[in-house]
Amino acid sequence: MGIEMTPGVPGNDRLLRALRREPTDTTPIWVMRQAGRYLPEYRTTRERAGSFMGLAQHPELACEVTLQPLARFDLDAAILFSDILTIPDAMGLGLSFAPGEGPCFARPVRSSADVARLAIPDMDGQLRYVMDALRLIRRELHGRVPLIGFAGSPWTLACYMVEGHGSRDFAAPKAMCWEDPALAHRLLDLLAQAVAQYLKAQAAAGAQVLMIFDTWGGLLAPSAFHEFSLRYLAQVAAALRADAQAASLPLVLFSKGANQHLAGLADTGCAALGVDWTIDLAQARQATGGRVALQGNLDPAVMLASPEVIRRESRRVMDSYGPDPGHVFNLGHGITPQVDPGHLAVLVDEVHAYGRILRAV
Ligand code: CP3
Repeated sequence: MGIEMTPGVPGNDRLLRALRREPTDTTPIWVMRQAGRYLPEYRTTRERAGSFMGLAQHPELACEVTLQPLARFDLDAAILFSDILTIPDAMGLGLSFAPGEGPCFARPVRSSADVARLAIPDMDGQLRYVMDALRLIRRELHGRVPLIGFAGSPWTLACYMVEGHGSRDFAAPKAMCWEDPALAHRLLDLLAQAVAQYLKAQAAAGAQVLMIFDTWGGLLAPSAFHEFSLRYLAQVAAALRADAQAASLPLVLFSKGANQHLAGLADTGCAALGVDWTIDLAQARQATGGRVALQGNLDPAVMLASPEVIRRESRRVMDSYGPDPGHVFNLGHGITPQVDPGHLAVLVDEVHAYGRILRAV
């Protein structure tokens, strides 16, 4: 791939090309949560920061952990080290991560008065640390690979804000949708505005790809998915298209557990869809009619198996997509803390090697 470094153009632009469905020498790969607890060097830096939010809010440390997986593996992208819950934290909900327990808000959103109190955070104020981290990471990457910025979807943010913590079923936000849909819509509309401003600010700070995580979209019944999740993803996508700088970046939407809605998600005008592991990529391609690139979709649990199984299952994913442009390899969800880092090296090498073979036949 182009070694020469034109200012602003990454040395390795496989990811950007694949997201535009242009030919590449091989299949690009990055991995959700590639900077995380499966890496001993991450655990060391996190220890030094004292807490997860301490790490995310310290631009030098966030930059350090963003770059850690790139020092070990031949990955084709960097992703900002941060979290989707930075927006509700900046809205004053009091975010903390209890060890081993996931996120928790001291002041969850339950009533009309709670929603009325919320305001869109200042991107150059409470969220400036995110933009500072992006600027620093872009500088430290020296154009080696593109940098992905991200946000949570309005629905997924509402899930945590209303429930107050992680959950298997998020009954509280779903109850709000049924009992007081107007209130749910006020909250989701505010969040859609905040997410759009956040992603625009990330584009201005140097992000080269924008991704929205709709982790809990799949909890909704089909009509509710359209009303409470997809509608607001479309609102964010439209707001980004109206911004000259953000409009020039590929937008990736990942709605987990929502494979029956792939066509509707592609209708938002996004460049690519993240795909979880419960559908074959061939079928996902069919559903989206080649209108978008696809990112995914190896079952993260495969990373716990032997190198031989990892190679076989990654080839199965690539065969399902086929040799055409427009596939970005990823796991179907985040890499888990139990994974042996050596297994990720096996995966990255296999994807690059087999991607070349696929294109040669
Ligand atoms: O992918 C990357 O490397 C970038 C960093 C990133 C994190 N969170 C770091 C993180 C990204 C993109 C996220 C997104 C995120 N955060 C999502 C959407 C994607 C998904 O996984 O579905 C969600 C739902 C969250 C909310 C969140 N943050 C949860 C549920 C947890 C606890 C999970 C756990 O494994 O304990 C977090 C904390 C978190 N965010 C960690 C990391 C590396 C682990 C915190 C730690 O170091 O203890």
